[in-house]
Amino acid sequence: MRAVVLVGGFGTRLRPLTSTIPKPMLPVGHLPIIERLVTSLGRSGITEVTLALGFKPEPFVQAFPDGTCAGVAMRYAVEPEPLDTAGAIRFAADAAGIDETFVVVNGDILTDLDVSQLVHFHRAHAAEATIHLIAVPDPSAFGVVALDDDGRVLRFVEKPAPGTAPSNLINAGTYVLEPSVLQRIPTGQKVSIERATFPLVAGDGGLFAMATDDYWIDTGRPELYLQANLDVLAATRAHDRCQPVHETATVHPQAVVERSVVGAHAQVADATITGSVLLPGAVVESGAVVTDSVLMGRVGAGAVVHNCVLGADGVVAPGEHLRDQRRPDPNSGSTGT
Ligand code: GTP
Repeated sequence: MRAVVLVGGFGTRLRPLTSTIPKPMLPVGHLPIIERLVTSLGRSGITEVTLALGFKPEPFVQAFPDGTCAGVAMRYAVEPEPLDTAGAIRFAADAAGIDETFVVVNGDILTDLDVSQLVHFHRAHAAEATIHLIAVPDPSAFGVVALDDDGRVLRFVEKPAPGTAPSNLINAGTYVLEPSVLQRIPTGQKVSIERATFPLVAGDGGLFAMATDDYWIDTGRPELYLQANLDVLAATRAHDRCQPVHETATVHPQAVVERSVVGAHAQVADATITGSVLLPGAVVESGAVVTDSVLMGRVGAGAVVHNCVLGADGVVAPGEHLRDQRRPDPNSGSTGT
């Protein structure tokens, strides 16, 4: 079976990390998110993935020079302008010539879902579209569904006001679609699958949804991106694991690295790193203390950094104390995008 993976968004909530690397190319446990996602799809029987590309397409093409990822054939569809989720699905599916049941995945989620189970459910219900659902305590930031006993979606409400959600089951960003769904999406314009297409399919009684309790995380916010790394490190996932320190990183023998991932070519002097992710090339100098942070840039000697996100150009001066900050500040206009 074939899949379209949406990877063309700007990733604004992850700035300044996404100022230099598009979100699905950011590493989780030393491997790009997209590689972990495609590997998981391949395990579930997907044989070809078309990446729906827009913002910064080049790193994706360069990442898979032989046109395969974990044995899955990779194709690329680059939008001339952002078409939003449904517009991007239509564009990519047309480019790939998809004319049978196919899978769609948001390129920023990591899950242990076995997609073949969702396909099985979809076929058993003769659905036009099927959504994977996850139960969460606060669904107000997500697309929320109301279901009947058969799994048919009665209502699909995108980001309901707090307290008004019809259930705690949210759209987990993996879909099985019939090609007829494509005909519902006008070409060449911005269309949201969540706000426009799913309500149309639901109105005709063809939208179904299946809830599972698989591991699932949306990496789109810094604290969740950090958590996704720590989950792979802690072996919370069914298949995904990682070593704390990449083999090309340099870590001083007196450094203390606890519950943290230190990426390729990162350098850590005799510093203390706890509950953090150092992305490839990050530097932490002598005596610095880093907690609950995601770093691409440089932390000077003796600095204390807590709950911060440091982009590639982010520098914490020697001795500086920084809490709850993003640097460079994504709102200052110097994000490099
Ligand atoms: P934020 O800007 O932080 O909201 O992140 P985002 O741009 O990734 O948006 P969001 O998380 O809502 O998008 C969900 C998925 O759809 C992500 O995998 C995006 O890459 C993808 N996506 C969003 N908009 C587009 C688009 O216009 N074109 C394509 N190809 N993909 C998109």
